[in-house]
Amino acid sequence: MMSEQRIAVIPGDGIGAEVIDSARAVLDAVNKRHRIEFSYTEFDWSCERYTRTGAMMPDDGIDTLREFDAILLGAVGWPGVADHVSLWGLLIPIRRAFRQYVNLRPIRTFDGVASPLRSAENVDFVVVRENVEGEYSEIGGRLNRGFPDEMAVQESVFTRVGVSRIADFAFELAKTRRGYVTSATKSNGIVHTLPFWDEVVAERAALHPDVRVDSEHIDALAAKFVLQPERFDVVVGSNLFGDILSDLAAAVAGSIGIAPSANLDPTRRYPSMFEPVHGSAPDIAGRNIANPIGAVWSAAMMLDHLGHATAAADIVDAMTATLADPNTRTADLGGRADTAAVTSALVQRLR
Ligand code: NAI
Ligand code: MG
Repeated sequence: MMSEQRIAVIPGDGIGAEVIDSARAVLDAVNKRHRIEFSYTEFDWSCERYTRTGAMMPDDGIDTLREFDAILLGAVGWPGVADHVSLWGLLIPIRRAFRQYVNLRPIRTFDGVASPLRSAENVDFVVVRENVEGEYSEIGGRLNRGFPDEMAVQESVFTRVGVSRIADFAFELAKTRRGYVTSATKSNGIVHTLPFWDEVVAERAALHPDVRVDSEHIDALAAKFVLQPERFDVVVGSNLFGDILSDLAAAVAGSIGIAPSANLDPTRRYPSMFEPVHGSAPDIAGRNIANPIGAVWSAAMMLDHLGHATAAADIVDAMTATLADPNTRTADLGGRADTAAVTSALVQRLR
């Protein structure tokens, strides 16, 4: 048995706390079965805390998290606190301080989760988003505020190191799957950064001859996500392209309520962070109706990352079974089960 692994838990705001309770219950059940030992430390970092203290997290928040093996996060954001405050006050500092350069989002269709697309069946792919550079840079500024010639400039930053490591991650991941990588680009219109992206991806591809690779312009790729989603295996994109593609893909698969994500430091030097794709859903918060599957699947990705692949697979099997049963689906999937009922169905299956 491995020694105890330390998990930092940040439930956040709104339904974040509700779905994290559910993920914790599922982890307790599966860990007991597999004799995995986690210890949890919970942090109240949130918009609620921001309103009280003026900061999403304490000044030494990043240093506090550094000691943990992984971070499990619900969602942050609340009306009255600007979304860029909650994002740049918590999530982005964590991703950057811990060099979580991969944002990983699996996309799958499940029995019981209707896709808005007639054609989507057997969809099973992963979006690998570059998570620390690209279009989301802090380089730039504004000039002449308030005057007619007011302007804003924001620089995109693509580095050889940054593009190489995200491409390598995508190629290695493809080897464990169907061996096919699609690289998102726009090198016809964006004439410096994206030709560079293409060049570096091609260089790395040459080192992985067993993986097939296609390069697709982002506009055509978006259309193919809708028209032929089953053709993709691993899709790799820059920070902005990956962000947009992964939300589009989650919508194609059926529900934002089931979509999980991982922010990974593949070198394992720093803790990685696991969170559902959805936000704090103020419109349904506090009513015990949130779909907990996105958080539960994220917890499974955390188990996998921490070396517990079998336990992770057990969670995915339990999820698949509860989704297939109309009695254990939440309202967003057309069911009538509440959060607690789905959670206890998952726990029953994992005991
Ligand atoms: P949202 O994901 O919170 O909600 C969008 C819609 O989907 C809502 O109608 C909501 O009820 C529904 N929904 C979301 N998750 C659900 C679940 N698990 N079960 C059932 N229905 C679900 O996105 P929205 O409304 O744009 O943002 C609300 C707040 O969350 C904002 O403050 C935003 O900044 C924040 N946010 C935070 C994220 C994070 O922590 N990573 C990600 C996205 C948004
Ligand atoms: Mg997004």
